[in-house]
Amino acid sequence: MAGNENKLLDAFKENQTVEKIDQNRKLRVGIIGCGWIAEAHVVEYKRMPDVEIVAGADLVPGKAEAFFKRMGLEGVRCYPDHKSMLDAEELDAVSVCTYNVTHAVCAIYALEKGVNVLLEKPMSVTLDEAVEIRRAEKKSGKILSIGFQPRFDPNMKMIKKIVQSGELGKVYYIQTGGGRRRGIPTPFGTSFIAKDTGGIGAMGDIGCYSLDMVMNALGYPKPITISGYKSAYFGTDPNFFLAEGKPAYLAEKFEVEDFAAGFVRLEGDIILDFRIAWAMNLDTPGDTIIMGTKGSLRIPSTECWNGSVGGPMKIYHEVCGEAVETIIPIIPDHSKGLFYQKIRSFLNAVKDGGTSPVPSDEIIINQAIIDGIVKSSELGHEITVEIPEV
Ligand SMILES: NC(=O)c1ccc[n+]([C@@H]2O[C@H](COP(=O)([O-])OP(=O)(O)OC[C@H]3O[C@@H](n4cnc5c(N)ncnc54)[C@H](O)[C@@H]3O)[C@@H](O)[C@H]2O)c1
Repeated sequence: MAGNENKLLDAFKENQTVEKIDQNRKLRVGIIGCGWIAEAHVVEYKRMPDVEIVAGADLVPGKAEAFFKRMGLEGVRCYPDHKSMLDAEELDAVSVCTYNVTHAVCAIYALEKGVNVLLEKPMSVTLDEAVEIRRAEKKSGKILSIGFQPRFDPNMKMIKKIVQSGELGKVYYIQTGGGRRRGIPTPFGTSFIAKDTGGIGAMGDIGCYSLDMVMNALGYPKPITISGYKSAYFGTDPNFFLAEGKPAYLAEKFEVEDFAAGFVRLEGDIILDFRIAWAMNLDTPGDTIIMGTKGSLRIPSTECWNGSVGGPMKIYHEVCGEAVETIIPIIPDHSKGLFYQKIRSFLNAVKDGGTSPVPSDEIIINQAIIDGIVKSSELGHEITVEIPEV
């Protein structure tokens, strides 16, 4: 009896959906790039009963072998680059976990080989590369998903629900971005700060997340014009790294932006005001705000790249003619984790032939904004954005 009672009570617990994974069809997965983030991918793949990690590749001799040993995986065939792995193996899917500048070449080659791709963010360095990736994806008919795990956070979903519900009326102005007072990422060397590996700096590392948070909520309207700015006052200063307890020589290797801002005119008469910093003499350049004709949403200054909002959100609106604020409490995440969902949703799309969970036709717009900021900053004036049809 007690057992039955418990079962009845359990029926009211949150998150009752039981995940059904078809274990009869195993997916053969390869990892391209065996650095920092590859570890998070492998940890999650190991939780999937329908995945076998069969191959891995890294440009650094011995790195892939050491990586899989450290991850407790035996028998994974290791290759010196993405091409040799994809030429030799019959794979269902790959995770592209390389630094930004090789995202395009790895993703395109995998798609050309008929392999489904989970591509780490940012999609690429330039818009041209993102267009080429889209072309390869379309031609292949395979699944390509871009690695924006914060999208699976219930608070991020709530932001989208609020905007899409019409609760804010017509949205006309958005401020987003953020960053760190001190936080140039050099824990594993210079791959984020050198031009020939990172390609872009703070924008590709964390800015793309802030853009995705608001642009996804809006339904990814296209950018029309962009006035952009970027600078590198902190990263190029040897004293900055010394004060951080890091070697001064990193300043010589610093070839990307540590701060960027963009004033973007989006279709639908919407202004996007964006700024992002790896380092600044400020705690935050402000909250994310989405202003609408019926209400505005304040999302407390957030490290959204870590997966969630920075505190309860607030809607400023009118109730019975009175100006009031409605607080949206933080929604706890009861899932198996955002990274788990990012990988599981990709695998489900691969198996079911479904649509990509984080599709490239949206993220190409994210990339177009970053690309536009770079171009406008280098030209010193506003530019018009054109995203080629694919
Ligand atoms: N989603 C997230 O939370 C998250 C977090 C950190 C980093 N990232 C992204 O993941 C990517 C990798 O970041 P990281 O910190 O792991 O970098 P990393 O420098 O630690 O590792 C990248 C590895 O890729 C290898 N590589 C490059 N090109 C290759 C190729 N053609 N074939 C095989 N190996 C190749 C390099 O040798 C290197 O070992 C970046 O684009 C970054 O933006 C995402």
